[in-house]
Amino acid sequence: MSLIKEQKLKSLFLQKGVNKGFLWGVATSAFQLEGSPYADWATWDSVLNLNPKVTNHYELYEEDIKLIKNLGVNAYRFSIEWSRIQPTEDTWNEAVVIHYQKIIDLLNDYRITPMVTLHHFTHPVWFITKYPWHKRGAVEKFIKYIDKLTDSIKDVDYFITFNEPYLLILGGYIEGCIPPGYKDFELGIKAHRNILVCHSHLYDLIHSKNKNSQISIAHNMAVFAPWMKWNPLDRILAKLAKRFYNHSIIEGFLNGKIIIKLPTLKSYEIDAPIKGKLDFFGINYYTRIHMRFNPFKKLFVEFRHRDIDGHGLTDMGWEIYPKGLKKVLRYASQLQVPLIITENGIATKDDNKKMKFIKAHVDVIESAIKEGIDVRGYFYWSLIDNYEWLHGLDARFGLYKVDFRNYRRIPTKAASFYSHIIKSRNF
Ligand code: FCB
Repeated sequence: MSLIKEQKLKSLFLQKGVNKGFLWGVATSAFQLEGSPYADWATWDSVLNLNPKVTNHYELYEEDIKLIKNLGVNAYRFSIEWSRIQPTEDTWNEAVVIHYQKIIDLLNDYRITPMVTLHHFTHPVWFITKYPWHKRGAVEKFIKYIDKLTDSIKDVDYFITFNEPYLLILGGYIEGCIPPGYKDFELGIKAHRNILVCHSHLYDLIHSKNKNSQISIAHNMAVFAPWMKWNPLDRILAKLAKRFYNHSIIEGFLNGKIIIKLPTLKSYEIDAPIKGKLDFFGINYYTRIHMRFNPFKKLFVEFRHRDIDGHGLTDMGWEIYPKGLKKVLRYASQLQVPLIITENGIATKDDNKKMKFIKAHVDVIESAIKEGIDVRGYFYWSLIDNYEWLHGLDARFGLYKVDFRNYRRIPTKAASFYSHIIKSRNF
């Protein structure tokens, strides 16, 4: 290729906001940064009554985007808060859409690639009360909303339709600890299918409007291990958990069917119309989980985190287990689409621990790429401290610390460390 052609191509990439091939980013979600009085989560957790604006990112977004720019990242994953746009079923607040478009425009001006999450756990209250995910109307309503939204939102290529759909089903339909708060497995299966149907429609819809779009879900993957290696029941549970939580959706993308086997020996087959409906695969990776058979617990399962390899636990008690990232990347690579780590991060007040965590995980990515796995991006969770689901404001994931009394952002040592990592790694 001639030098001029090469330069032209390079500037084309720069115009689109892609400085290097690899996406180095940070990730957030709207509700965790800015709250919303109209969302189902607003009254779910009492912490939010005292801190309804959380970090006040809704007003301080320009300042926060400067922080992103200063990090030297070339990508930013964030979500759009549906309940602000449609606080009631019959309203559409265009000013809010314009607000999110301003964020996209600013990012593009700074040559930072926006990646927009369309659903990140929260819903407008009217939606989840009238059309919870197990009801057919849910699919139509969500698609209608995204159709209208994507008529307005411009200059975004990367979309995540759903963040961690399995967590939504487990928490919202089986454990009942997050909205909509059901404890009903059968309803959960229906909701699961509807979410997959929705993903499939959204994939086609967004592609029909933007041929360049790159679409995925963000799938939470963990390593599952037996609590006691010698105990065959713990081993079986770990295997079932891995198949259900990590693998079943990958099988769905590969062949359009999801098979769920429960410890009770019951199994479900879901006809999932998602075969091939992804352009890359988003993985949220945090930890390893140990499984124990316990006849007194729901579905006979108990989980725990253990510090086995000496990397320690996070402030939320999660085991730090970088090696596990390689395992999940290897498994996901059978999808034969580019893999992007859409979330990875640590809750800790200890900057050194945060830096070690980042380095260890980036090292794993480097070695996965050397092994031939097609990893195209890494998004650290999170840009700034924020509200952590059911844990409140004390889980400090941020590269920038937030003083929640006055919304001040204070850089941690990990912020400049992450910038240094981005500059020094060449992939
Ligand atoms: C993930 C969620 C994200 C954040 C991190 C810590 O499961 O997607 O919103 O809460 O955990």
